Amino acid sequence: MTLFRGTFIDTPENPFTGGALRVATDAALVVKDGVIVARGPYAELRAAHPAEPTVDLTGGVVLPGFVDTHVHFPQIRAVGGLGMPLLEWLDRYALPEEARMADVDYATGVADEFVRGLAAAGTTSALVFGAHYSDAVDVLFTAASRVGLRITSGLVVSDRLLRPELLTSPARAYTESLALAERWHGVGRNRYAVTPRFSLSCTDDLLAACRTVLDEIPGSLFTSHVNENEAEIANVTELFGGSDYVSTYDRHGLVNRRSVLAHNVHPTDVELKMLAEGGATIAHCPTSNAALGSGLFPLARHLQHGVRVALGSDVGAGTGFSLLKEGLQAYFVQRLLGEQGCPLTAAHLLHLATTAGAEAIGLDAEVGDLSVGKRFDAQLLRPADGSPLAVSVAHAEDAEEALARIFTLGTPADVHAVWIDGHLLHH
Ligand code: GUN
Ligand code: ZN
Repeated sequence: MTLFRGTFIDTPENPFTGGALRVATDAALVVKDGVIVARGPYAELRAAHPAEPTVDLTGGVVLPGFVDTHVHFPQIRAVGGLGMPLLEWLDRYALPEEARMADVDYATGVADEFVRGLAAAGTTSALVFGAHYSDAVDVLFTAASRVGLRITSGLVVSDRLLRPELLTSPARAYTESLALAERWHGVGRNRYAVTPRFSLSCTDDLLAACRTVLDEIPGSLFTSHVNENEAEIANVTELFGGSDYVSTYDRHGLVNRRSVLAHNVHPTDVELKMLAEGGATIAHCPTSNAALGSGLFPLARHLQHGVRVALGSDVGAGTGFSLLKEGLQAYFVQRLLGEQGCPLTAAHLLHLATTAGAEAIGLDAEVGDLSVGKRFDAQLLRPADGSPLAVSVAHAEDAEEALARIFTLGTPADVHAVWIDGHLLHH
C-alpha cells in the first residue's frame, strides 16, 4: 500500500449536466495493487496508515491520466504539415509516411517515439489508429506493452482510392485482423480496435468484413472517421449513392456503444440522431480541425442531440500529443462560434480529456477519475520554478482558476510524472 499526498482535481460528476469540479487539497489517496482503496484528508489517512510509505506530490496538481480517443501512430513524424485541406494532406503528406510503415525497423522507431510522446503528455489511455501493415501494428502493441500504456488499436484497412501499397481485400483484412486480435486483445492492457480508415476508402464488402470481425472479438472497439471535410463528404455521398456519411457505417451495424468516430464537423440532424440512438462517441479533434481548415465543431448540437463527445489529439493532422492544448483549442472554437458556441470552463475541458474519454472507450469502470475503486492512472502537473505556468498558477485564486491556467499555458514540459496502475512511468 502507498499513500499519495497532494492536491487532486477530477470530474467524477459530469459538468455538462451540472456536476462540479472535484478538488481535494492536502488530501491523500491510498493505492493498493494499483487501485485507489481510500481517499480523504492527508492527516486522517496518515493516522490510519502510519506505517505505509507516502509519495509527496505537494507543490503541484494531480489530475487523472488523459484519455486520447483519436491519435494516429504512423503519423508522429508528419506533425506540422500545414497549409493543406484533408484530402490533399492525406495524399501528399500523411499517406507517404504511412507507407513507410511497411519497413518494420522504421515502424519500430516510430512506435518508440509514439508511446514516449503519449506518456510525456500525461496520456495514459488511448484509442490509436494503427498502421495498414500487420507487422507495424505488432510493433506498436509491443512498444505500448513495454511502457505500460492502456492502448486500444488495430490494423487500419482500406480497399479503394488510397495509394496501392496501402490497400487490402475484405478477406485479407478479416484474417489479419483476427490474427492480431488473437495475439493482443486482452493481453496486458492492450485491446483491439476494428479500424477501417474512412468510408471513402472502403467498399461495402470491406465494411461488412469489419462488422464480422467486431462480432467475433468480444470487447473490441470500432473506430473510423466521419464528416470531417466538405469535399470528403461530397465524395462519400457520391460513392454511396446519395447516402449520408453516418449511414455508410450504420447500415453495417457499426454505429453503437463500441464506436468512436473522429471529427463530425459537418453533421446533419438526422446523423446526430443516429449517433445518439446508437450510443456512439465522437472524438472531437480541435487542433486538427483548425490545422486542416476542416471547420468549427458544433458541440452544442451534439449535446442537444445527446451525442457523446470526447477529445482526440489526431496526431499528425493535430499539432501534438497534449490534451491540454486540445482542450484550449476546443474552448477557442466554441468562443469563435459565438451564439452557436457552447461556453466551456476548465471543468468541461478536464472532463472531456479524462472521464468522457474513459466512457468513450469503455474503460470508465477502471479509469477517468480518482475515485475509490478506480485504478491510479494519474499525472502530476508541476511546472519548473519561474516558468510561465508556475508564475501564473502562483497567482490563481482557487483550484478551478489554477486548472484554467494549466489548460491555457501547460505543455508536456509541465507534466512532471505519470502513473498507470500506481506504477511511475515517466519522470
Ligand atoms: N480521414 C482519413 N484518414 C485520415 C487521417 O489520417 N487523418 C485525418 N485527420 N482524417 C482522416
Ligand atoms: Zn484521424
